[in-house]
Amino acid sequence: MLVRVTDIREATTADWPGIWPIIHAVVVERRTMPYDPALDETGARSMWLLPPPARVTVAADGAQVLGTANMYANRAGPGDHVASGSLMVGAGARGRGVGRALVEDMTTWARGAGFAAIQFNAVVETNTPAIALYESLGFTTLGTAPGAFRHPDHGAVGLRVMWLDLGAR
Ligand SMILES: CC(C)(COP(=O)(O)OP(=O)(O)OC[C@H]1O[C@@H](n2cnc3c(N)ncnc32)[C@H](O)[C@@H]1OP(=O)(O)O)[C@@H](O)C(=O)NCCC(=O)NCCS
Repeated sequence: MLVRVTDIREATTADWPGIWPIIHAVVVERRTMPYDPALDETGARSMWLLPPPARVTVAADGAQVLGTANMYANRAGPGDHVASGSLMVGAGARGRGVGRALVEDMTTWARGAGFAAIQFNAVVETNTPAIALYESLGFTTLGTAPGAFRHPDHGAVGLRVMWLDLGAR
């Protein structure tokens, strides 16, 4: 079943038991996101389930969470007109449009909230699925911090800053 942007909804605390295994798998793998692999459930919950005005979303199939995203102002004060966010899809649910739907929903939210752009701060340069997804939605790479991520297979690889201009300033 292909997942579409209309399948994305705001997360509730009842979704947390389905979100945590997805986060846990991604952080212990250490291949795609610069999080502490020792992150425990309590720390992950406070990191991921951010209160408003941030927003947390899921794609779910009944009670099963397929993927999740969160989104927020990238910086405080004079930097709070640029949004940022993160997303993760469960390994068994990849390749079905969940990631695309989560980013399309994030983009709609950011436009609606008046953000001028979305900035992803740390896209691992070997994360081909994420880069292909973001580029297909119009994101460009502003630059790469060389060797800023220690990949277990590839060694020191770069972290891209990726940017989508929303045209509102
Ligand atoms: C990156 C991630 C979110 C993609 O989620 P997904 O649900 O598998 O992606 P989708 O099925 O929506 O695919 C969207 C696009 O991503 C790209 N893509 C997905 N899987 C790919 C793969 N294995 N190789 C190359 N491109 C791929 C394609 O451009 C695809 O578009 P298409 O289906 O029209 O060809 C998912 O792999 C993931 O959660 N990875 C671990 C965490 C992570 O990397 N998060 C992002 C950190 S920046």
